[in-house]
Amino acid sequence: MYLSKKNILLIFIFIAFVSVNGQNNLPNRNVNQKEEKFIEDLLSKMTLAEKIGQLSQYVGRELLTGPESQTLTDSLIESGLIGSILNIAGTKQLREIQRKNIEKSRLKIPILFGFDVIHGYKTITPVPLAESCSWDLELIEKSAKMASIEASAAGIHWSFAPMVDVARDPRWGRVVEGAGEDTYLGSKIAEARVKGFQWNLWQPNSVLACAKHFAAYGAPQAGRDYAPVDISMSTLAEVYLPPFKACVDANVQTFMTAFNSLNGVPATASSFLFREILQDKWKFGGFTVSDWNAVKELIAHGVAEDDKSAAIIAFNAGVDMNMTDGLYNKYLEQAVKEKQIDTKMIDESVKRILQIKYRLGLFENPFRFFDEKREKKEIKKPEFIETARDIAKKSIVLLKNENKTLPISKKVKKIALIGPLANNKSELLGSWKARGEEEDVVSLYEGIKNKLGNKAEINYAQGCDFLSTNEDGFAQAIKLASENDIVIVAVGEKALMSGESRSRASLSLPGVQEKLVQELIATGKPVVVVLMNGRPLAIPKIDEKASVILETWFLGIQSGNAIADVLFGDYNPSAKLTMSFPRSEGQIPNYYNYKRSGRPGDMEKTSTTRHIDLPNANLYPFGYGLSYTEFAYSPMICPDYFDANGKLKVEVSVTNTGTYDGEEIVQLYVSDNVASMVRPVKELKGFKKVFIPKGETVKITFDVDSKELGFWDNQMNYIVEKGSFTIMIGKNSEDVQQKIVKLM
Ligand code: NOJ
Repeated sequence: MYLSKKNILLIFIFIAFVSVNGQNNLPNRNVNQKEEKFIEDLLSKMTLAEKIGQLSQYVGRELLTGPESQTLTDSLIESGLIGSILNIAGTKQLREIQRKNIEKSRLKIPILFGFDVIHGYKTITPVPLAESCSWDLELIEKSAKMASIEASAAGIHWSFAPMVDVARDPRWGRVVEGAGEDTYLGSKIAEARVKGFQWNLWQPNSVLACAKHFAAYGAPQAGRDYAPVDISMSTLAEVYLPPFKACVDANVQTFMTAFNSLNGVPATASSFLFREILQDKWKFGGFTVSDWNAVKELIAHGVAEDDKSAAIIAFNAGVDMNMTDGLYNKYLEQAVKEKQIDTKMIDESVKRILQIKYRLGLFENPFRFFDEKREKKEIKKPEFIETARDIAKKSIVLLKNENKTLPISKKVKKIALIGPLANNKSELLGSWKARGEEEDVVSLYEGIKNKLGNKAEINYAQGCDFLSTNEDGFAQAIKLASENDIVIVAVGEKALMSGESRSRASLSLPGVQEKLVQELIATGKPVVVVLMNGRPLAIPKIDEKASVILETWFLGIQSGNAIADVLFGDYNPSAKLTMSFPRSEGQIPNYYNYKRSGRPGDMEKTSTTRHIDLPNANLYPFGYGLSYTEFAYSPMICPDYFDANGKLKVEVSVTNTGTYDGEEIVQLYVSDNVASMVRPVKELKGFKKVFIPKGETVKITFDVDSKELGFWDNQMNYIVEKGSFTIMIGKNSEDVQQKIVKLM
């Protein structure tokens, strides 16, 4: 049976990791002769210790984003044994450090300054997960560009972003830093972010980007940060690697290792990842850096017996630069002398780092990025703040809006504003706030006030705290609710309940917040639930009782204004979820593109893949989000057959049948009906975000490339098989129309 099927199918085997877009894999760096000569001359003057110094990165004391590590001292700076420093920002401080290095060190090699600029430097934009819900690649690129301009104005050369880890488990705290659970969308967003950060690469108003964390960090067991990852090679190639490949194709200059082990080998010790895939297959021309202390942690992983062997293993695996633990500086010289490390490899790694410094113009002018005037002018510019508001409002997902409660009329007279996040500023910055400041944040209270001025009374009560079980504030909140025309209740997580090392076992609203919401609903007043959180939550009871739910994540400094824009109808929400919301933690992992089963799930039938106590379907599926208007889809038009060398043209017309202008994100999914390996029930393969004025129709066309319909086998070959495919188009991953077509 299998053999005869194989006879019918034509199998295309693409060389592993050649881009399916047909781009070639030439090294993305053309070395010019002047540069080559300069670097060779410099290398010839460097002692082995100085070379290894270039491979060592230390952290400034003021911002520790990890556990205790090697101390950065003036004598270290002056010794010329530092290649890079992280987590210090500001032209004044950085100039001073660079000055010490240049004046005192023997060869005056400039230091490279890195910083975690994840969603803005000072102008903090929505957390990356929120921003991904806009599905707006141009805007996402613009947001990264803005961060790049601000960070570089503060003297920073290098941002440790984007994080491109696909994340299918909402318990994992770092889902907040990525683009959600889908590989296709994640790859597009990865590309946009790299382009944004490196918008003017090598110029002093742009930073280097860093693709992190290589690889599969987003798949830790039980969603616990740093836990091992065990996945098939096909899943690695198909789900977790493509966003990294998209970064290489977008010319990203650096890569960071992941903390986890992958199929038994810590990523930081994986020559398979760093030498075979990244260097040999993908021809990545930039340099790699370990994550914080990740080299030393090879001992805790149990693959290195001591600090010295940890350093040797990581370096030999292809980790050029060592972040924070100082082990390269301590042990690599000795290891070279003992021939445990090849000097040529040291030279190669050093060259990669020197090339980047050269291209940044730092040898010509080590102070090139330190322009105090620019720093004053470029940071928090009014147009940046406007853009932050635009991105924020486009990141808000409307989950429920019964009885068209939203938008609220601006003629409303009395609003009860309740909840621990209703008048809060600091939490709204989210995880990784760089130099973002609480005082720059517009709270929800202020946002509503800005919108309505004195025309409405806004009556605030906190109701309860985030975590505490104290209900003393309930009575006042309930009284307020019953005395006002409408209730807006802002509940959710604290900013630091998501992010690094912030995994949660429970995804419910913390403390007594859910109870508060239920009691407010019981007053019979219209209640708008505004959620603020860094991951999908499990809120089935709120969904059951509340008629309006708005997911606003953590939207950064313009939070309040952006939420008010949506609440009062100045912006019609358009965002759609990039991570599914489960009904309960028991459904996790709950991503939409799971693989088929021999006993497909059927809630009515036993002996099918299901839980006996919970529907299989998510509460809110991937791609889901409502608008104030309605969109009607025509039947899709597409041929019954298409050619293996061609593209399938799929057309659908979308009409705005409601009473507001609005944007719709039209999604195209594909399922391979018969293949030589088990395939997902569906996979996103295209999307278009379109503005459609009320009453109008827009024709949307997708050209599905047959090359995009393949899959990766466990030998990491990319295969496209002919045969039957189901093409689906719709509003979200569940609400689709479909047609079967044949790839000939
Ligand atoms: C550890 C995190 O995993 C990484 O994302 C970050 O860039 C470094 N620390 C530096 O802060």
